[in-house]
Amino acid sequence: MASPSQKILVTGGAGFIGTHTVVQLLNDGYNVSIIDNFDNSVMEAVDRVRELVGSNLAQNLEFTEGDLRNKDDLEKLFSKTTFDAVIHFAGLKAVAESVANPRRYFDNNLVGTINLYEVMSKYNCKKMVFSSSATVYGQPEKIPCEEDFNLQAMNPYGRTKLFLEEIARDIQKAEPEWRIILLRYFNPVGAHESGKLGEDPKGIPNNLMPYIQRVAVERLPELNVYGHDYPTRDGSAIRDYIHVMDLADGHISAVKKLFTADDIGCAAYNLGTGRGTSVLEMVDAFEKASGKKIPVKLCPRRPGDATEVYASTEKAAKELGWKAKYGVAEMCRDQWNWAKNNPWGYSGKP
Ligand code: NAD
Ligand code: UFG
Repeated sequence: MASPSQKILVTGGAGFIGTHTVVQLLNDGYNVSIIDNFDNSVMEAVDRVRELVGSNLAQNLEFTEGDLRNKDDLEKLFSKTTFDAVIHFAGLKAVAESVANPRRYFDNNLVGTINLYEVMSKYNCKKMVFSSSATVYGQPEKIPCEEDFNLQAMNPYGRTKLFLEEIARDIQKAEPEWRIILLRYFNPVGAHESGKLGEDPKGIPNNLMPYIQRVAVERLPELNVYGHDYPTRDGSAIRDYIHVMDLADGHISAVKKLFTADDIGCAAYNLGTGRGTSVLEMVDAFEKASGKKIPVKLCPRRPGDATEVYASTEKAAKELGWKAKYGVAEMCRDQWNWAKNNPWGYSGKP
């Protein structure tokens, strides 16, 4: 259990990974305050978090609608509440959109985060967990990806994550009292086991699992499988899919580390399972979990995609005491449970 006085600000807490993490933080006894501008989320998701944890723990959750690009929104929050740490999810994450509109990504992800550091520093809150991504490994020369590999950005979205990692390292070097944990997520999928929380992307999904889910609920006719001539066991590309509840628990471990270790500096950790699954294996696992047929169309490779990416999990296990518990069967089971109960996402409407 957390100390009852520990209060965590969660930016982007209404989003996919944020909501699942907030549930686990509340269940673990933390006080939580969310700031989100609903750019890619809805209030219903926050209401479902309250419902899931029950009315007692829901009292420990506050919500503010606000935008990190607007420093006043942050000032208002920090001037009335003392935060012990921040988990910073707020950001834009669609790779293709970042290529088409890089300024939107640099403005939102970089300016928003720089504002956050400034206000945190002013109010002497210097503990941060930041959402980084396996995208910072670019096309890894070797697998599994280890945290000390050379980093490389493949697109403007990836560049924002890489810049923000560098900014974090520079800030911590200049002001050694900061404790910053950079969590590099591999491919987050799945949903809360209750079927009440899950991923609800606007428009046509870019990522594999939300796309499969839309085919399963018959909102899309078939899945395009991008690449069937990769040098892998079945010709499709391999990724390290991680259950969002495992990811949420990884954040709890990181927050605990912030409060207990004074020699963290600025440290990066992979959050993955260490296991690779191909696109076609994922389709197969989802068909088994859902009993639905997912029609596939074999298509050319998607530009910029790597053949095979998966995490080395040793550093997180050793230093955070965290390891993923779930495999792809549970990821697909929970994602299907969310999909079948919410075929139109949080809005419930076409
Ligand atoms: P998400 O879009 O569901 O959640 C992000 C939340 O941040 C949304 O609720 C959005 O409204 C909010 N937000 C965005 N810009 C904001 C701003 N300027 N001010 C206030 N709120 C803002 O995304 P997610 O999947 O939960 O991802 C969370 C974080 O993890 C992001 O930083 C993302 O880049 C990173 N990440 C995600 C993945 C993934 O595949 N889901 C992989 C690696 C890293
Ligand atoms: N894929 C398909 N069809 C689809 C969507 C995806 O075949 O409709 C394939 C892709 O080609 C890739 C695999 O499924 O081989 C996974 O693709 P995703 O788009 O789901 O995930 P990526 O590994 O490409 O990247 C995602 C995020 C990145 C992030 C990375 C690691 O989009 O921002 O996970 O966290 F960096």
